[in-house]
Amino acid sequence: MPATPPQAAAPLSAPSPEVPVTSTPEGHFPEAPDPQQLLDFVRRAATDAELVASLPLDPEERTWLRLEGPGGSEAWLIGWPPGTGTGWHDHAESFGAFIAASGELTENSLAVRLPTDGWKTLELAEGVDRHRTIAAGKGRFFGQQHVHEVLNETAEHAISVHAYYPPLPHLRRYSRSGPVLRLEQVERPEDWQ
Ligand SMILES: [Fe+2]
Repeated sequence: MPATPPQAAAPLSAPSPEVPVTSTPEGHFPEAPDPQQLLDFVRRAATDAELVASLPLDPEERTWLRLEGPGGSEAWLIGWPPGTGTGWHDHAESFGAFIAASGELTENSLAVRLPTDGWKTLELAEGVDRHRTIAAGKGRFFGQQHVHEVLNETAEHAISVHAYYPPLPHLRRYSRSGPVLRLEQVERPEDWQ
């Protein structure tokens, strides 16, 4: 992980409601999917028993299968053993959707849009934290710059389906200490090979 010089924590102003993306980015596929299409896709995939059963499961580690999402989107089938999670991250300018196909996931997220660049630590205002339980069959979509962590806090394996558009250009990973969010790493697709 690259060492980054600490910067003064900048207070983040008032929380704003989480706003779903209502327009698609310009300059991508003419058939670019909208968030509802991504949600429809993950919902269909989650009910495809044969597809879900094709995911190898591991008792310790998350497992995944790349799927062909609609309109050039990036999609994944992911298995979550008990106790696993993503850590805090965002998906840059990609919006997306996800659903639990089986089991139950927890999503902790921020109901605030972060500045995209030029900071290393941010002090989050009170009241920006959101906590959701994503039960089997439940899905949601999220907008650009959505910051969250997804975890399996149950004793059972969970399986979920995720789709992102545009395909993830990078992920920003954060650590969290109370209200202070720190940018730790920017991961690019070549890091996931
Ligand atoms: Fe995510």
